[in-house]
Amino acid sequence: MNKKILILILVILVVLIMGIIVGVTVLKDDDNITQENENQINNEEIVSDEVKEENTQNETNEKKNLIVYFSQTGNTQEVANIIQSLVGGDIVKLETVEPYPEDYSTLSTIAQQEKDDNARPQLSTNIENIDEYDTIFLGYPIWFSDMPMALYTFLDEYDLSGKTIAPFCTSGGSGLSGTPVVIQTKEPNATVTGGLSISSSNASNSQSEVQEWLDRIGL
Ligand SMILES: Cc1cc2nc3c(=O)[nH]c(=O)nc-3n(C[C@H](O)[C@H](O)[C@H](O)COP(=O)(O)O)c2cc1C
Repeated sequence: MNKKILILILVILVVLIMGIIVGVTVLKDDDNITQENENQINNEEIVSDEVKEENTQNETNEKKNLIVYFSQTGNTQEVANIIQSLVGGDIVKLETVEPYPEDYSTLSTIAQQEKDDNARPQLSTNIENIDEYDTIFLGYPIWFSDMPMALYTFLDEYDLSGKTIAPFCTSGGSGLSGTPVVIQTKEPNATVTGGLSISSSNASNSQSEVQEWLDRIGL
């Protein structure tokens, strides 16, 4: 074998060995990249599992609020809306099958008669999912130093055991007139908080009074 052929064979061998070394290195890098990708995917899965768990916990811990109110001339409705803007949750207006007249004198006569009769005016409002709520903010105007009789219908119709009831009212000056105690009597297995009384002339401007009350009762 002459010298030239020997050198040629050596060159081919060196090129082959270099080729093998480069090939192995590329494969190793690919392995590393695949491993890194797998780690990243696993980490993302763990993070998304944690987020899911946190969301479930928030859903579990979050108390659901329902604001239920009766309002004939809109004052209690103003306060109900303010409460909802501060605490969130759902809001429902209680309405009677037989609407009350707008004329004050006629309304007064009917309301007084219902009170004298201890009547239970039929409600057209039906709250099917009341069980879903933890806290019921219950609002009403004061009529003859009492709740309108429609509120008694509501308290008779719904079992609020285990819930927190936060009563609020608007009035010309009488204030709560002992109505939270009546609510507690009607719903003995509910927790009734201290009530909020707002003057009818201040209903639309009662944001700070409502906030102070919420702070006081811890809601
Ligand atoms: C039939 C009737 C009886 C009322 N009785 C009282 C009362 O005893 N004491 C009081 O301070 N205000 C009384 N008011 C005034 C209301 O409580 C007050 O205007 C309230 O803000 C009305 O709320 P609303 O707009 O949500 O219906 C009476 C109003 C009506 C219509």
